[in-house]
Amino acid sequence: MAADTTTAGAGRALELAEVERISILGAESIVCGFHLADYIWNDVFRNLAAASTYVLITDTNLARLYVDKYQESFAAVWAHVNPERKAPRLLVHVLPPGETSKSRATKSAIEDWMLGEKCTRDTMVLALGGGVIGDLVGYVAATFMRGVAFVQIPTSLLAMVDSSIGGKTAVDTPAGKNLIGAFWQPKRIFMDMAVLSTLPAREFSNGMAEVVKTAAIWSSDEFDVLEASAEEVRAAVLEGQKGGSGASGLTAASRSAAQTQLLRVIAASARVKAHVVTHDERESGMRGLLNFGHTIGHAIEAVLSPQVLHGECVAVGCVLEAEVARRMGHLSEVGVARLTRCLRAYGLPTAMDDAALVRLVGARRLAELRPRRLLDIMALDKKTVGAQKRIVVLKRLGATLEMQPTAVADSLIAEVISAGVLVRPVPETPAGQAAAVVVVPPGSKSISNRALLLAALGNGECRIRNLLHSDDTQVMLAALQAMGGCTFGWEDDGDTLVVAGGGGRLQAPPHELFLGNAGTAARFLATTANLINAAGGSTVLTGNARMKQRPTGPLVDALRANGCSIDYCERTGSLPLRVHHDGRGLPGGRIQLAASVSSQYVSSILLCAPYARQPVVLELVGGKVISQPYIDMTIAMMAQFGCRVERVAENTYAVPAGAYANPAEYVVESDASSATYPLAFAAITGTQCTVPNIGSASLQGDARFAVDVLRPMGCTVEQTATSTTVRGPPRGQLRALGLVDMEPMTDAFLTAAVLAAVAAGGATDGVTRIRGIANQHVKECDRIAAMCDELARFGVATANHADGIDVHACALGSLKPGVPSVHCYDDHRVAMSLSLLACVSPQGAEIRERRCVGKTWPQWWDVLARDLGAPIAGADPAEEDAGAEGPKADVAKADASIVVIGMRGVGKTSLGRVAARALGLLFVDMDEHLEADVGQTIPEIVNGAGWAAFRQHESRLLAQVLTQTHATGALVVCGGGVVEEEANRRVLQQHRALGGPVVCLTPNMQHVAAYLNRDRSRPAYAVTSDINDVYARRLPLYAECCSHEYLVDKALLAATNAGDDDERPGAWAVIERDFVRLLRFASGRDLNRVSLAHPSFFVSLTAPDVRAYLPDALPRLTAGAHAIELRADLLLHAEPFAGAADLADAGTADEFVHYVHRQFTLLRHFSRLPVVFTVRTVPQGGAFPSSADALRMRLLHAAVQWGAEYVDVEVDSLAPALYAARQRSLVIASFHDPSGTRLRWAANECEFADEMLARARACGDVAKLISSARSWQDNVDCLDFVGRNHSVEQPLIALNMGYEGQMSRVTCPCLTPVTHPLLTAAAAPGQISVAQVHQARALLGLLPAQRFALLGSPIQQSPSPAMHNAAFGALGLPHTYRLLETSAADDEQVVALLRAADFGGASVTIPHKQTVMRLLDTLTPAAKRIGAVNTVIPVDDGKGGRVLLGDNTDYLGIVDCLRQAQLDCSGTADGRLPAVAEAKALVIGAGGTARAALFALHTLGVRSAVVFNRTAARAQELVREFADLFDSLGSVESLELAAEGGQLAYIVGTIPGCDLMIPEALFAQPAGVALDMAYKPRWTPLLEAAQKHAGWAVVHGVAVLVEQGIHQFEKWTRLTAPAAIMGDAVYAQYNAQF
Ligand SMILES: NC(=O)c1ccc[n+]([C@@H]2O[C@H](COP(=O)([O-])OP(=O)(O)OC[C@H]3O[C@@H](n4cnc5c(N)ncnc54)[C@H](O)[C@@H]3O)[C@@H](O)[C@H]2O)c1
Repeated sequence: MAADTTTAGAGRALELAEVERISILGAESIVCGFHLADYIWNDVFRNLAAASTYVLITDTNLARLYVDKYQESFAAVWAHVNPERKAPRLLVHVLPPGETSKSRATKSAIEDWMLGEKCTRDTMVLALGGGVIGDLVGYVAATFMRGVAFVQIPTSLLAMVDSSIGGKTAVDTPAGKNLIGAFWQPKRIFMDMAVLSTLPAREFSNGMAEVVKTAAIWSSDEFDVLEASAEEVRAAVLEGQKGGSGASGLTAASRSAAQTQLLRVIAASARVKAHVVTHDERESGMRGLLNFGHTIGHAIEAVLSPQVLHGECVAVGCVLEAEVARRMGHLSEVGVARLTRCLRAYGLPTAMDDAALVRLVGARRLAELRPRRLLDIMALDKKTVGAQKRIVVLKRLGATLEMQPTAVADSLIAEVISAGVLVRPVPETPAGQAAAVVVVPPGSKSISNRALLLAALGNGECRIRNLLHSDDTQVMLAALQAMGGCTFGWEDDGDTLVVAGGGGRLQAPPHELFLGNAGTAARFLATTANLINAAGGSTVLTGNARMKQRPTGPLVDALRANGCSIDYCERTGSLPLRVHHDGRGLPGGRIQLAASVSSQYVSSILLCAPYARQPVVLELVGGKVISQPYIDMTIAMMAQFGCRVERVAENTYAVPAGAYANPAEYVVESDASSATYPLAFAAITGTQCTVPNIGSASLQGDARFAVDVLRPMGCTVEQTATSTTVRGPPRGQLRALGLVDMEPMTDAFLTAAVLAAVAAGGATDGVTRIRGIANQHVKECDRIAAMCDELARFGVATANHADGIDVHACALGSLKPGVPSVHCYDDHRVAMSLSLLACVSPQGAEIRERRCVGKTWPQWWDVLARDLGAPIAGADPAEEDAGAEGPKADVAKADASIVVIGMRGVGKTSLGRVAARALGLLFVDMDEHLEADVGQTIPEIVNGAGWAAFRQHESRLLAQVLTQTHATGALVVCGGGVVEEEANRRVLQQHRALGGPVVCLTPNMQHVAAYLNRDRSRPAYAVTSDINDVYARRLPLYAECCSHEYLVDKALLAATNAGDDDERPGAWAVIERDFVRLLRFASGRDLNRVSLAHPSFFVSLTAPDVRAYLPDALPRLTAGAHAIELRADLLLHAEPFAGAADLADAGTADEFVHYVHRQFTLLRHFSRLPVVFTVRTVPQGGAFPSSADALRMRLLHAAVQWGAEYVDVEVDSLAPALYAARQRSLVIASFHDPSGTRLRWAANECEFADEMLARARACGDVAKLISSARSWQDNVDCLDFVGRNHSVEQPLIALNMGYEGQMSRVTCPCLTPVTHPLLTAAAAPGQISVAQVHQARALLGLLPAQRFALLGSPIQQSPSPAMHNAAFGALGLPHTYRLLETSAADDEQVVALLRAADFGGASVTIPHKQTVMRLLDTLTPAAKRIGAVNTVIPVDDGKGGRVLLGDNTDYLGIVDCLRQAQLDCSGTADGRLPAVAEAKALVIGAGGTARAALFALHTLGVRSAVVFNRTAARAQELVREFADLFDSLGSVESLELAAEGGQLAYIVGTIPGCDLMIPEALFAQPAGVALDMAYKPRWTPLLEAAQKHAGWAVVHGVAVLVEQGIHQFEKWTRLTAPAAIMGDAVYAQYNAQF
């Protein structure tokens, strides 16, 4: 340190700063210190060549703060140095701040100004500012008069450590940054740290990116300092911001510790840059090292600047480039983790999807960071040589692989910067040749945290290896350090932590201990802080918002009771805590603790107990102790550190006083859940893998996975106390487990499930039934649902249970071909487990969110690729989505919670409960939640503390539920007034923006008022405010928040029963059903879209009121169609609106929207087909006035919210807004040319059509262009146009209107609009019916006739031929269906039919339902599970051939009939039919039909059933086979016994010609359903007995026959069956026979 002081001369006495000098290019010209103004002028005047003029250039920000001071100092110092000479000129020039000033124009302006000021060659230019000023002014100095003296006074941190050093100067041009410039070395560089106090916080972080980067490539010591002193460095900067003491830091003696550290850190970084510049001034090799983080960082910056700063992009680039180094096997995981954490500690983003970046530019901009685009930008980078990209590869923190950037393959970079990862199948190695791999998974978090605390409290040095590097352990380390209890150091590149224990001597930390959301650290330290032996002072433990809600109460209670003095600073029961130090430490003795919430409380006290004043006896009270294994883990680890805890009673532990003796080395056991993945890899690929540090002596539950799961599946497992080796059986030979209880290792169930998915070896039935894992429904996501959904992508069948999952194994060869794209729900375990399945599936799989593994094993993909040998590559799911069929809009996370809002009394709770059950979501009623939280009922709160207090609780809990505790996996029902608060609306909107459905229930207000008059459990509305006023006020507020809207109006259904004022039977059940349907749609679970791979049709309704078609005509006129078009414009013809003159009137418009909503809802109630919602304007051939555009758009937007699957918008300036807001709906962007003169199709005149097509595609998912034909040729041209432009990915509906255009309707490739003879008018000229299209296609040779048959015996009386032939006829299909009576399923005739090219499908009946399976190639999961086939379907095999698929529609027929009966019953008996989940069922018989019946009951949701069969043994056998589908399934010896012990509400008879005595006792329930599959005679004994009971509905077997036939027809033809016609045909024959 050089001390520069001058003796006082004339004028002012100067005390000059003490500074540090750094050498660059052979001279010590970099000067660092605090408060340098005087120093600078003194140095300039005395030591640099004299100048006639000094020109200080700065920007307005700095001018405001510092120019006066510099001017004043200039005069004073001159007077001091040269008392007798006149002062030279000091000219000041001020520029606007920011990058735009760094231009050629500004440079010329400065030069002109200087010339104007008559500056000569002996001028000195000083740049006071950030990098912008430095670069620009340096370039001016370099060229002014061919170069004048230049001095840098960098004021931003970035300028200090980077841009001011090295002599690079430049300006930007429109073609790019820094493209014009020169090397021009400054004479001096003065770094005045004091000015950093005014630097904006973000600019400080921006500069720190370069500081951290420099340390990372150059000096591990420096990196350690940066890592450890983030808080000090920040404090030093903040000190000044708080005002600080005027000149603190001027001299070394006056510097605070923080200032010293800041100076040290900046000087060290500047020194590295100076060194590199000195050795490579013109950037030919080594200087390239400084570009670490910049190759990727620059590419990101190119996309995100100027909103995101250079340093912020570099920080992300550093982490990604470090990951490249890790992937190449050079840098350790610890290195990446430390670098990431260090950057984060300085407030920098560290990932491309970092929340900070989302805040800065929004998710949409971030989505532009596509790997392809970034790689393209990198290709232009100046470091790129030829095609080869170069990256600075770290060997470890502080050292690089080479002394220059290293060439890296594009594929490697792509992998790291991709959101997804493509895992290709692992090639099979010949038996016995697979290498034995050793994998060490990351350390266990629980063990890591315990080891840290034990070693810190212990005596002596302990080397901890395999410590987990996570946020949790990091805060623990930092807190223990702050309490001065020990010292930490790193060895082996940070792989070993050396702890020098302090023997329990702790001090109060200098600041609050911030523990983030680290629960373990918070609980452990809450006791530890009491060990601080100071008399006076206190320690504060605090955390982030989430941590402040997590409980700590029982622990604090116990400690307080023991004599500790602890206060809650905010909320009782949670952090922040203030622990007072009164010199007494932890008293000890008998401590009582309630341990039913968290075992961490117990561990916390046990771990600290040896240091209490008295030996501790810890007694656990207050209910069942939770997670005993973790308590055992603590005790075992305490023993390893020399302290033996004695369990003196079941829940009492005695801990002797003393101190821990640190072992010299402690290896943290790997995380046992993580270890399941490499071990399972060996199992699934038939290779061998060893995890060397987990064995039978492990304290972790998941350590049992190898022995309890892998061994029974057929693996060879060798386990010692401390290691585990697994060898898999040859591929494809894993065996299913049957029933397995995974309660002791719930986190490992995902690993087991993927193995079970291919466990088709051995003699088992291939089903693994995992139980005991109910908690997995509510982990990071609903893991059970996630595994069901994702395994299905591989073609694996599963069943989702309340406490488990069934997995039906698939032979390896039968996994679905193609590359499934797997969603991970941001859950590390989902990602890792499914990546194993990808290793053996035919073409691998794409895991969409690769980064989610970071939670526990960031290195997993490296391990999978490098150590385990799986070929992997980057994958960019978003890039593929853009081209895929379906919506391009943001697709919400399927697991985001669903929120239900709406007026009180509309039915939110009852509908919500039903829907939650149907969707497998957790049901959360906010009112109940609130009452439980506050401990009072709502009326109590309101009467006691008032509405405001209630609203406050409501807001707090809503935010908590939707952003933290139940952001996913729940269905949340809000109170009616939730939208009244602005804050709540924001929370709801935010949830919606993140893709969570917010569904508003819209009431029929009369019903609500009536309901509220009855409901006394809630506080009344204020007397004055009429409920309708409240509704009117809230209506727009609901609209502000909701994504979807559902109309709840029982009266609607009543209105369709002519003459009947009462509600339609089962109305509420219909409302429930369709609500669930909307939620499935809104959450993306079932988008109900039409497949565009085959011709499809939608029928256009034309009546002004859909009730004209209800209830009977609608199903008839939609036969053959795939969707229904609701033409809202035609609804204008309805009575109240006819004329449509006053649509501009707000009241009329509101009324019309409501009318359309009711119409839409009615369609929903009566048809399951998707709806195409259209408002066609007059100019486009419709009826909607083109003057009412606002209303038209309002309707279309409303339709999106109602859940219309398709909305048709005309291509105009309003269309893009709808497209952007379409949520789950698909937009059909249409243009109609009724004149036929503009839209021309022929290649030489289709310019306009091409243009309209492009416009339609820009604002629609499906384009629709409609012209009018004048000649046959127009149709031929149209077909050509379609040929040129249509594909499944980019669908196009194109046709010609008019009689002459009918031909184009026959050849239209998809979504052809059709009419039906039952419609009084066609929606457009020339529209024809589905039947007509088919007839024409058949004549034209586009629809070959197919043969269908019924196989069975005896079948002569079967109504099936009549049923199917009637259906073919009704839809104009040229097919035929006949009987093929045969006694053997594989008889020659049958085989010949199945193989024939014109075979279209077959029904199968007794006695062939099981034997026919031999002739088939594959079975649906249902057929497989039932064990019987009644339908054969030929399907394309994707390779030009066909395979025969066996299916079972019997069970679907039963399900449909039972559902219909439920609806009927729930009306007549007013809900007396018990809920399915509570009801019991009886199946009579044990044959093939009984199997279908049991599966149907399971599908319906029945959980308890009994089987009766005359031969009891067969019933018992059936029970064994189907037991897994029910909570309770048994067989009964007699029918009398069947009704016992449950609410018997479903009886299914399956015995033909049954003559059993049916006991009356079966019908003891007031309501129920009896169904008999036998249909000869019409009234079987069962039905006869049932129909005597008023509440019981009966279902005749013939009805099931029709329903199953309808399913068959639809599966064969992919058309909606003409159900009514099929029914008519069957009943005509049946009635004649019976
Ligand atoms: N020449 C090189 O080798 C080199 C290296 C890296 C970056 N650069 C260049 O540096 C520029 C970026 O530099 P920057 O990050 O310093 O940006 P900057 O110069 O725009 O400064 C950032 C902002 O902070 C303000 N500011 C600076 N110091 C302050 C202080 N002490 N108190 C209050 N406000 C203060 C500035 O007025 C400005 O608004 C870019 O143009 C980049 O190309 C050059």
